[in-house]
Amino acid sequence: MSNLLTKTTELAMYIASSYAFPGCVIVDATCGNGHDTLALAASCPSKLYAFDIQQQAVDNTAALLRSEGYGSLLENGTISIICDSHSNMYDHVTGHADLIVFNLGYLPGGDKTITTSVTETMTAIRSSLDLLNKGGLLCITMYSGHKEGSVEKEQLMYLAKTLDPKTYHAAYVNFINQHNAPPEILLITRKK
Ligand SMILES: C[S@@+](CC[C@H](N)C(=O)[O-])C[C@H]1O[C@@H](n2cnc3c(N)ncnc32)[C@H](O)[C@@H]1O
Repeated sequence: MSNLLTKTTELAMYIASSYAFPGCVIVDATCGNGHDTLALAASCPSKLYAFDIQQQAVDNTAALLRSEGYGSLLENGTISIICDSHSNMYDHVTGHADLIVFNLGYLPGGDKTITTSVTETMTAIRSSLDLLNKGGLLCITMYSGHKEGSVEKEQLMYLAKTLDPKTYHAAYVNFINQHNAPPEILLITRKK
């Protein structure tokens, strides 16, 4: 394992994965190049939904999963890669989810002008809070170094701080001595 305090995405996935268990239901709300989907697939979920609005991301994720030996889970429907906005997750997700992961921003190696947007993100996060099972985790990696990401962070932090403390428990990881707006992690669990 690499030094988790120097790699935010790995820290987020390490925390998120600890909420996954065999038979769980997972949503990767921003599959991108598929690295998070691949890591989550290893936990033997009964269902894993992966969303992205870019066909390139859907193709990259499917290719990565196939190359790592998870092709049969795509064929038998255990893993569904859906080319749609996470704001429409209600149209695709059946029942509740134990773990929902967002890695906001743009597709690494892709078009940097296509990023997650405040309106879609906030709609999707509200759906996620409803879809989350008791004891489940919503893990959001935020990038405030660009304009849309800064507004996303502001609105997400407000939402998290004002959640009903009887129902949700929210925490926030911020790398306090790093420059240039390093990624931050927002963690929300629905209490048992
Ligand atoms: C930082 S990347 C995700 C990285 C990915 N988790 C990985 O492991 O490679 C963010 C992704 O969010 C996607 N995205 C942007 N808006 C979206 C939306 N409304 N719904 C779903 N995905 C979206 C982008 O296309 C991009 O691929």
